[in-house]
Amino acid sequence: MKKVLFLLTVAVFTNCKTQHAENTIAIENQNQNSLFTIAFGSCDNQKIKNELWPAIDKNHPSVWIWGGDNVYSDTEDMKFLENNYNFQKQDADYLKFIKDKIILGTWDDHDFGANDGGENYPFKRESQQLLLDFLDTPKNAIERKRDGVYNSKIITVNKNKVKIIVLDTRFFRTGLTKGVGSKRFQPNKYGEGTMLGEAQWKWLENELNSSDAQFNVIVSSIQFLSNKHGFEAWANFPHEIDKLEKIIVSSKAKGTFIISGDRHIATFSSKNIPGLSYPLVDFTSSGLTHIYKNFSGEENLFVKGEVVKEINFGVLKFDFKKNKVTMEIRGKENKLLQEYALIYP
Ligand SMILES: [Fe+2]
Repeated sequence: MKKVLFLLTVAVFTNCKTQHAENTIAIENQNQNSLFTIAFGSCDNQKIKNELWPAIDKNHPSVWIWGGDNVYSDTEDMKFLENNYNFQKQDADYLKFIKDKIILGTWDDHDFGANDGGENYPFKRESQQLLLDFLDTPKNAIERKRDGVYNSKIITVNKNKVKIIVLDTRFFRTGLTKGVGSKRFQPNKYGEGTMLGEAQWKWLENELNSSDAQFNVIVSSIQFLSNKHGFEAWANFPHEIDKLEKIIVSSKAKGTFIISGDRHIATFSSKNIPGLSYPLVDFTSSGLTHIYKNFSGEENLFVKGEVVKEINFGVLKFDFKKNKVTMEIRGKENKLLQEYALIYP
């Protein structure tokens, strides 16, 4: 019986993955000992050649997650945005890379359509469909029919599960408070405004509450933990940080951590949360084509290790037996730049 199932899988999907329920994808991992790998990255300016695709591919990720700023458009001209996505998607190295991958993703501000943009961006619904086209999201997918690009996938590898919960930090995000001095923004008054909006919060809570996955990866375009830099971050909505932390704790979703982008640097941050039996990690990887040249350090109470200031991507290696995730910041020629490993309880 097992053999038949396997043959069916191979017959339909040459890369040994098959879609079951709407949000579940099974990977028949032929090598029982090999690690399951996800790679992600953000900030890919279509005008600059992304040199990293072959390096990313060397890690044999099963999944690629676009973390936002997947093109730079800052426009209300949807044809311009569409052309930029098309241009990005014509990159021969990218096309080669995605052949045998599951592609997921979200947007950040520059592909959403407006620098630091949020709920008031007038073409958000049109822009949403263009991102979903870029990601080859099926026409009947739920994220085509509702407001916002948030979505989730459960990847089953043999009998193990990883849930990827992709957030939308743009569509519903309300106003930010202008900062003082060199800070672009300062936190809103506690309780003021929203990062995710009501419908997405409800959905997220349910995604975590209902998850029976061994690991839960939350994708946020902007940083969750780093909170002093004055650019966009969850820190601009302190009550929303508390809310997500509480939901992570109360849901009892196992092995939960956050991946983010936006900053054109890469870093690991981790925070001890009351009631959570492991540190909550926010793994930031950005950018794929360009970096924050003037970055000279910043106060981040949660930072672990050196901040990476060269083009980079993120790699997540899941060891189901050890209940361990090895998180790697890698760069040109697949060079390992920083590493952080966590064994979950
Ligand atoms: Fe960016």
